[in-house]
Amino acid sequence: MKLKALNGFKDILPGEVEIWQHVEATARRVFARFDFAEIRLPILEPTELFARSIGETTDIVEKEMYTFVDKQVTMRPEATASLIRAFIEHGLYVQKPVQRLFTIGAMFRHERPQKGRLRQFHQLDVEVLGSQSPLVDAELMAMGSMVLQELGVHVSLEINSLGCPQCRPAFRAELLRFLAERMEHLCDDCKRRSASNPLRVLDCKNSGCRRQVQDAPSILDHLCPDCAEHFSAVQDGLRRLEVPYTLNRFMVRGLDYYCRTTFEFITTNLGAQAAVGAGGRYDGLVAQLGGPKDGPGIGFAMGIERLVLLLQQRGGEQAWTLSVPDLYVAALGREATQSCQRLAYLLRAGDLRVAMDFEGKSLKSQMKQADKSGASWVLIVGEEELKTGEGLLRNMQTQEQQRVVLDADSLSRMVRPPVRHLIAADDSVVQQN
Ligand code: HAM
Repeated sequence: MKLKALNGFKDILPGEVEIWQHVEATARRVFARFDFAEIRLPILEPTELFARSIGETTDIVEKEMYTFVDKQVTMRPEATASLIRAFIEHGLYVQKPVQRLFTIGAMFRHERPQKGRLRQFHQLDVEVLGSQSPLVDAELMAMGSMVLQELGVHVSLEINSLGCPQCRPAFRAELLRFLAERMEHLCDDCKRRSASNPLRVLDCKNSGCRRQVQDAPSILDHLCPDCAEHFSAVQDGLRRLEVPYTLNRFMVRGLDYYCRTTFEFITTNLGAQAAVGAGGRYDGLVAQLGGPKDGPGIGFAMGIERLVLLLQQRGGEQAWTLSVPDLYVAALGREATQSCQRLAYLLRAGDLRVAMDFEGKSLKSQMKQADKSGASWVLIVGEEELKTGEGLLRNMQTQEQQRVVLDADSLSRMVRPPVRHLIAADDSVVQQN
């Protein structure tokens, strides 16, 4: 039997991994500018954590979690609940009332795999805990937009408000009345959801259901004065920060913890998996999980796989570089190989990326290998060179060769000339190799 990765689980190979590194580095850079600190969380958590936060009747908790039934533990399907668990467990709110945290890592959902939808996928997740200010909502969306902009990914931002426990009951009652009249035309899932979680019907992907809910009442017409004021301030904030957005009154989200602001970064380039990122406010959740009362929170997560797909599709100039060796050492014969291994070790200690193999291949085959590796330089050392203490250094771009002393310091200077600092006309320091 051939052993293969599980369906929905994917290896990220060299060549693609550089795009991941680029995405992660860009996100880290932008998150740092907004004063976010990194937190690293476990992959396995008590099952109850997700049942209590995401909601018993959501798709995630009902059918998508990887749970070890005998142990009552679950592989995290998202990061928000875990991050709040850690926030409460370590009393982070005591040190600093408003915490800005981000985490990057793998999440697990037993969904039907397709392009942009995996069972193990990766999120860039950010959360602000302890602030109710609508300026935070606007700033988070602006930060998400900045990450996408710096990656060169074009998406649109859709926003909605889901109100709060004060305004939702009246809306829910009106929605239930509306759905009752159309029940026979809804899909089986929606018939079931109407009783447990009617808002989810608004979000059903079934085209029949979509037609039925076209004229459904909007939560935006039912917001209590506080929620309406908050949502209006969020939109003012977005306008001030010049972040374009559109209202989507049908946005519901697949997790039950949201209240007030919800938002999604949407692309038209990934077929059915249109959400590149999504999030919202969850003001009751910290208290619900045993944290301080009135502990507000808001956050979002972006799917790294989807960002990488968009970057691969985009074409044009690549912002990431494939990792290639600075130098390939082609040694011929046992003695030269042993001696060159030491030389390579010293060059590596001096921060050069050096490739070398120990398979005793011919010069021709090693040169082929060097060419394939993309190395800028090749050092050739045979018995003769070993005797004279001088190797042949070939510039792979110009094909010029020169004799060089087999000494780590001088080699290092030739392969990577020191960076020269030039002062530009506007007095800024420019680096030039
Ligand atoms: P979510 O909408 O479930 O929200 O996921 C956020 C993003 O993760 C999605 O927009 C998508 O890009 C990516 N994603 C989700 N499922 C998959 C999958 N099966 N395969 C590939 N990518 C996927 C949350 O997870 C919330 N915790 C976000 C949040 C943070 N809300 C507040 N704070």
